[in-house]
Amino acid sequence: MHKNQKASYDRREFLRGSAAIAGTTVAGVLLPTGQVFGQQAKLKVGLMLPYTGTYTQLGIAITNGFKLAVEERGGKLGGREIEYFTVDDESNPAKAPENVSKLVQRDKVDVVIGTVHSGVVMGMAKVLKESGTIWINPNGGAGAMTGAACAPNFFRTSFSNWQSTHALGKVLKAKGIKTAVFITHKYAAGEEMMEGFKEGFEKEGGKLVKELYLPFPQVEFQALLTEIASIKPEAVVCFFAGGAAIKFLKDYQAAGLKGKIPLFGSGFLTDGVLDAVGDAAEGVETTLHYADGLDTKKDKAFRLAYAKTFKLQPDVYAVQGYDAGQLLAAGLDAVKGNIGDKAGVIKAMEAAKIDSPRGPWTLSKSHNPVQDMYLRKVVGKENKVQGVAWKALADPARGCKA
Ligand code: BEZ
Repeated sequence: MHKNQKASYDRREFLRGSAAIAGTTVAGVLLPTGQVFGQQAKLKVGLMLPYTGTYTQLGIAITNGFKLAVEERGGKLGGREIEYFTVDDESNPAKAPENVSKLVQRDKVDVVIGTVHSGVVMGMAKVLKESGTIWINPNGGAGAMTGAACAPNFFRTSFSNWQSTHALGKVLKAKGIKTAVFITHKYAAGEEMMEGFKEGFEKEGGKLVKELYLPFPQVEFQALLTEIASIKPEAVVCFFAGGAAIKFLKDYQAAGLKGKIPLFGSGFLTDGVLDAVGDAAEGVETTLHYADGLDTKKDKAFRLAYAKTFKLQPDVYAVQGYDAGQLLAAGLDAVKGNIGDKAGVIKAMEAAKIDSPRGPWTLSKSHNPVQDMYLRKVVGKENKVQGVAWKALADPARGCKA
């Protein structure tokens, strides 16, 4: 953060924090929350995620991952038990300010974890900038959150949209591909992933010949697939996730394009969907900050624990939720659970080195992960790692006064 901005933030927050401490630990018997002296009140964690609609599975995986990180710490973070407050954001940007206000004003949560959809992320940002609540975003890649709208209390454990497609330019160049069409939903995530790809591809001498969009969350792909067939690019690159990714992969195959025009994308296209798509995704190559077959000690332990607890295989969303729990643990451990010491929590989270199933990562100055981008290829039911497409890729954080 900008030095002056941070100094004034720290002072303001220190005063707020001191008031919070006075409210919960005065030497009396019964404290305002009904808390007995000597115990710390439960930490209130607000989960704002999609639990209905096309991104439902993503919201569930993030929730599972976060709770697994908490359970691995005996159900506590910074020594405090957790009380969860949950809001289904329906991936609806119009309802985002009201939904996040429910957590902040009504439930008075200490921390907000959310969300998946970039448009909803931006709807949360204004409310959370004003309240100063610690916010960890476990997915939504909206560039502005850690760019022009960055703030000391905003953290992301996932990726920026730009990051998720930027390395694809190099990947296509290495395969001798010079022309491509990009297809996606028309909203911040799709547009920013298109930009990230275009920048990387053009740097390598490639040409993006057409951008094709449909409104979120529509999945009527037929007309656009017909257009792709008539353009005949050397490759198709896309961003779709969740239910939309399943439908797109099946429709691409049904339209006769699979095997004719190679399909690439950010890895959300094939993560968490392989059981549902049959062989429609076989051979599809993507870039992402997680992959199957990383074969590290941390990843193996995480996968085993996740499968045992939830009877499900983890995916990138589960990893991002798990790392949100790990990052918050790092912040709270440093202040012994005293979330009122916001400056202390922020300082510890900024310095954290996260031992993630994806591989170790740290935060950039704008609070976005600096991380390896893997090239993956669908083989059977796995996004098999092929190598590192870009080592320690950092988002450019354009507009963040860090
Ligand atoms: C987004 O809206 O930022 C997003 C949604 C699903 C997967 C990846 C990104």
